[in-house]
Formats: sequence, structure tokens, C-alpha cells
Amino acid sequence: MKGIFPVDKFQGMRTPFYYYDTKVLRDTLDCLRAEAGRYDNFSVHYAIKANANPKVLTIIRESGLGADCVSGGEIRAAVQAGFPASKIVFAGVGKADWEINLGLDCGIFCFNVESVPELEVINSLAEAKGKVAGVAFRINPDVGAHTHANITTGLAENKFGINMADMDRVIDLAGEMSHVRFMGLHFHIGSQILDMGDFVALCNRVNELLDKLEARGVRVMHVNVGGGLGIDYAHPNRQPVPAFKEYFETFATHLKLRSYQTLHFELGRSVVGQCGSLISRVLYVKQGANKQFAILDAGMTDLIRPALYQAYHKMENITSEDAIETYDVVGPICESSDVFGKAVDLNCVKRGDLIAIRSAGAYGEIMASRYNCRELPQGYTSDELAGL
Ligand code: LLP
Repeated sequence: MKGIFPVDKFQGMRTPFYYYDTKVLRDTLDCLRAEAGRYDNFSVHYAIKANANPKVLTIIRESGLGADCVSGGEIRAAVQAGFPASKIVFAGVGKADWEINLGLDCGIFCFNVESVPELEVINSLAEAKGKVAGVAFRINPDVGAHTHANITTGLAENKFGINMADMDRVIDLAGEMSHVRFMGLHFHIGSQILDMGDFVALCNRVNELLDKLEARGVRVMHVNVGGGLGIDYAHPNRQPVPAFKEYFETFATHLKLRSYQTLHFELGRSVVGQCGSLISRVLYVKQGANKQFAILDAGMTDLIRPALYQAYHKMENITSEDAIETYDVVGPICESSDVFGKAVDLNCVKRGDLIAIRSAGAYGEIMASRYNCRELPQGYTSDELAGL
């Protein structure tokens, strides 16, 4: 065991693979449940897009969260893991007919609708089945988030949601349709947000919209503020459980909820991010002109975040206590962007050493690809490696 890792167990395993520490996951879920549970009318959904590993999903479902899905495949994954349909919400800017039909057949709680044409299709598919679909409108609040440009979603320039200016019109339209039922409003401003001020800005905008709707006599039963709470990538051990207290307090303080309203959240990264690590083996240590490279058997096909978003993930040599040296840590893929980190300090690396790439539980395994005809990485939980 070095740190939190059962290194002896890892030695005989085929790399690369994802390792999920179930204690960290359960501690995170316990804290999340306790903090959200302080408020009667808060309901938390897990954003399946962050990690759909069935073993991880089962643990999350056991904790009582609902599920936020963005595709038919995710609805299937949620149902298979035992999430009740009554706790499934379905978002996404481009829902195909079969996906809408699947949601209707399962009897999901609510469709988060992103355009008028989508509303019309949901209404007619529901009519064909003799059902009434619950719908919430995803409103683009035009609120920026201090995060990477690729993962901010709440600005008017983004493809997501319905313009605020069109909100009244779509709600009226839904009222005229016989097979949809207006349930509420949905927002999501971005991901990996650590500045609570961004959520305060969202609350202020939501308050404005709710006041406006109330003045028109529209009853909004459900408000969904999406996900987005960030994690501490620099210190996965120091702060494994994210700042759920501050997060929920921010909404409780700044959002003027009516007594009949339920507030929904869709958290992904903050639930699973810190429990997962990508474990890989060093294939070669190569001397470059002015640096040395540690070449891993994991690549951007296994964890694309550094290549796609220049994301930082802490790395550790979990099989060495030798003096620190500095490396560019790279993968084997034929792309110059296949780099996990430049000038990374690691205990002296040799062929066969195991490197843990930390905080990889969210948007890691699920974003893996088969580029270069590589095998997809497997995911193992600490419970199963311990034989539990
Ligand atoms: N709800 C909606 C409507 C979303 O679009 C997202 C994430 C979430 C909830 C969950 O957000 P979270 O709590 O995980 O921040 N692949 C990127 C992140 C993309 C996030 C997409 N939407 C990454 O690796 O950083």
C-alpha cells in the first residue's frame, strides 16, 4: 500500500485501468446527502455523463440520488443500475425520437426541453402513446462561469437552452399543447466552478425570472440549477470531499424559492471526481534533448481531459520512494497532444513503475475512445479488489 493504493494488488493487473476508491465515493455521498438534507425541498440528481461505470452507478443509486441523463444510453444505464424512473431527468440539446420514446416508455420524471421544435416533437410522440410528458424548459441565463471556455454553457453564445426573451412564449405554447405538462425551469452555467459568486449570479438571474413569471400567474413547481461544482485537482488527498456545504448554502441563501417549489441539482464531477484514478505503467524513460520523458501505457484515449482542456491532473509514482526528478509524462498515441503533464515532479521513474493519475473519476473512463484501435480501459472498485 502506498498512500491510498493497494499497490501489491495492482502489480499483477493489466494496465491501464481505472481504480475507484469506494470509501472516498461513499464519504462524498454521505456528505452530499447530509448537506443537501438540511433543506427540505432540495433534490439531487447524479449527472450520469460524468461516470457510468455500473459499479459506481450502483453505489450512487444506493445513496438515494436521482439521475440526470443526456441520452437514451444514459437512461438505459440509469434504469439498469436501479434508479427509479420517477427520479430521472432527461436533458440534451438534440434528443432523437427513439430517445424521447424511451423516456416516455420508462415514465421518467421530466424532459428538460431546449427548443420549440423539440417541444413539438415531444408533444406529438407523447400523443401517439396516449401519454403526457412532464417538461421543464432549459433557459440560457446568459451567466458566465469562471472556468475553461469549453465547459462553460450558460452564455447567450452557447448552443444550450432557450433564450430568456423567448421564455414566456414557450411556456404559453406548452400550455396550449395537450400532451406536455409544464413543470419548471432548468439552468446549467458550466462545470468545474469553484467561485460561489458564479452560482450567486445564477441565483439572481433565476430570481428575476421567477418574479416575472409569478407576476404573470405562472406557477413554476420545479427549479433545476444544473451541476457545476468543482473539485480540487491540485490536492486530491487534502480535500477529497468537495465544498457541498458552501454550495448548498449559496442556493439556500440567494435563491428566493417559494414554499411550493422543489430545487433540483445535477451534480457530476463533484460526486465522482476524487474517487477515481487512472493507473498506468511506465513503458520507457527516454532522454530528450533537454528533458526526459516518462512514456506511459495510458494515453489520451484513456483520459482525454489534459489533451482536450489542458486540464491538470496530479500524478504520483506509486511504486517508488526514490529522489524526485522532472519528466514530461506522455502516452503512446500518435498525437503530439497526447501529454498528461509537462515538467512533472515524480519519484525517480523506471520501466514498470506504476503511475497514478489522480482525480480522474469524472469524465475519465466515460470519455475513453478506441482511437489507434486501443482497448477501452477497465474500471475496478476498491471493494472488488479487496474481494468484498
Ligand atoms: N447538467 C447539465 C445540463 C450539464 O451539461 C452538465 C455537464 C452537468 C449537469 C454536470 O456538471 P458537473 O456537476 O459535472 O460539472 N467533459 C468536461 C465536462 C463537461 C460537462 C458537461 N456538462 C470535463 O471533463 O471537464
